[in-house]
Amino acid sequence: MQTYEHVVYSHSVGHTQALAEALADKLTGGEVITLSGDLGAGKTSFVQGLARGLGITRKVNSPTFTIIKEYQGSQFPLYHIDAYRLEDETEDVGFEEYIYGDGVTVIEWPERIAPYLPEARLHIRIEKRGETERNIYLLPHGERFVKLVKEVLA
Ligand SMILES: Nc1ncnc2c1ncn2[C@@H]1O[C@H](COP(=O)(O)OP(=O)(O)O)[C@@H](O)[C@H]1O
Ligand SMILES: [Mg+2]
Repeated sequence: MQTYEHVVYSHSVGHTQALAEALADKLTGGEVITLSGDLGAGKTSFVQGLARGLGITRKVNSPTFTIIKEYQGSQFPLYHIDAYRLEDETEDVGFEEYIYGDGVTVIEWPERIAPYLPEARLHIRIEKRGETERNIYLLPHGERFVKLVKEVLA
C-alpha cells in the first residue's frame, strides 16, 4: 500500500482549522480520517475546521458520553467518533456502519478501535510543540489518500 509522510507546522488554532477546512474541500464522501495526539493537542479543533469546511453550522465539541456524533454537511454527513471514553475496545458501537458509509468519518483516539479501522485512510498525528505551536503529520495510507494529501498541500 502506498504511504507518504508530510508535516505541516501550525502556529495557531486558526491555522490548524484552516488546514482542516482545505482538506474538507477535497473530500467527496466515504473517507476515513484518524486523529492521534495527546489530550489538548488539537484533534477536536481540527474536526471543527473540517466540519466548517463541510458546511456544518452546528457546533462540534468533544462529546462527554457519546462516542459517535453525526452532523449533516451540505453534501454528505460527518461522523465524529471519539473513542477516548470507550470502556473496552471490543464494545461494538456499530463502527463499520459509519466507516463504510457514504459520509466522512473522523476518529479521535483511533488506537482504541484499531480492529475496526480500514487500511486505507488518512492518519493525522498532532504533536504539541508549544502553547500554540503544533506539528501536524499527514500520513495517508492508500493511493486515494496519498493523492488527497498532495491536492490539499498543492
Ligand atoms: N496550533 C494549534 N492547533 C490546535 N489547537 C491549538 C493550537 N494552539 C492552541 N490550541 C488550543 O489547544 C486546545 C486543543 O484542544 P482540543 O482541540 O480539544 O484537543 P484534543 O481534542 O486533541 O484533546 C484548544 O484549546 C486550542 O485552542
Ligand atoms: Mg478531543
